[in-house]
Amino acid sequence: MSTSLPSLSRRHWLTSAGTALAGLAVAGRFLNEEMRAQALTPERLAAVTPGKVRLSLNENPFGPSPAALEAMQRHLAAGKSCRYPYLETGELVELIARKEGVSPEHIVLGVGSGEILETVALHFGLAKGEVLYATPGYLQLPRAMEAVGGRAVGVPVTPAGEHDLEAMAAQVSPATSIVYLANPHNPTGTTVDAAALRSFIREVSPKAFVFVDEAYLDIADNYNSRTVVGLVNADRPLLVARTFSKIYGLAGLRIGYGVTSPRFAAVLRNYAIGSLAGPATVAAIASLKDDGFVARTRDKIVAERQKLLDLLRELGRAYAEPQTNFVFFNAGRPHAEVFRRMQAEGVTVARAFPPLTDWVRITIGLPEENEKARAALRKVLTTA
Ligand SMILES: Cc1ncc(COP(=O)(O)O)c(C=O)c1O
Repeated sequence: MSTSLPSLSRRHWLTSAGTALAGLAVAGRFLNEEMRAQALTPERLAAVTPGKVRLSLNENPFGPSPAALEAMQRHLAAGKSCRYPYLETGELVELIARKEGVSPEHIVLGVGSGEILETVALHFGLAKGEVLYATPGYLQLPRAMEAVGGRAVGVPVTPAGEHDLEAMAAQVSPATSIVYLANPHNPTGTTVDAAALRSFIREVSPKAFVFVDEAYLDIADNYNSRTVVGLVNADRPLLVARTFSKIYGLAGLRIGYGVTSPRFAAVLRNYAIGSLAGPATVAAIASLKDDGFVARTRDKIVAERQKLLDLLRELGRAYAEPQTNFVFFNAGRPHAEVFRRMQAEGVTVARAFPPLTDWVRITIGLPEENEKARAALRKVLTTA
């Protein structure tokens, strides 16, 4: 038996090397500084280091509704994992549509709301479109657009860490195909004024598609007065994305959805690569039926968040006003130093968010995790 490597013909080698180099050139050309910070760097991999308190990914460790866990167990025990879950996904779409006050054709399900972000990016990016987004920001959609040949243009957040709606509206040009806003914003955790956002959507949507990402909105005060889902209709180029990953505590099951016009929902379904797993689907159904779960979870997160804000105030550290399960604060020293020293204390905080390199984002964990994080922060922020 030969142990030598299979020999590649010169032509084959040149072709594969050429493809790899072209790939690198594409990556190099499209990744801006902020996007590079989110690539799989050692720091980003450390975000999932085992054995550390993981306060880097905005998960909700209070976990799902007990009804969701039970629904999954029942689904599996009934031997349903050999069946495609079309009945279940149909029921979920009906439930979501009722909750959001639209008909089911307006709903498009995703393997996490990330899939909605990616499929929208494919649609506009493949047409060489341009996205406006707030920077620093959540990059899944802008990055995916650039990866397939589109352009991403960042508009800086205000000093309070909020979307600068005026600047964003002023930046809309005939080249703009889509405007992406996360409300609440990530990494700052701030919300925009609900009335201002509604008039922004009315003003901008005749010129460009508007994508409002409400991944964290159920954690904000007065969810009902803040969601813009009521502006979705058959004609407006608008999509509102929601997820079961955050307040519903189901990040590992990958389930989210978009609410948009029936026409655009049909377009997006064509881009979808996967479809929902049965256990994820029944867990989402049970979560939506568990009245009171969202409010109970919000209370736990807000109470824990308050303890962190009290500490930051005591230490004289500025922070963006959070409406989320994470807090973005000015550490008064480089992120890299805080990250490294917090790691040494057993706590992982989020990656850096350039250009705000003295700021740090930390997720609200379980009470005992937060206690450890507060003790570590006190040490790191008060000693050299
Ligand atoms: C603003 C925002 N949108 C969307 C997502 C995607 O979440 P998922 O794909 O788990 O629904 C995240 C995840 O952290 C996020 O922060």
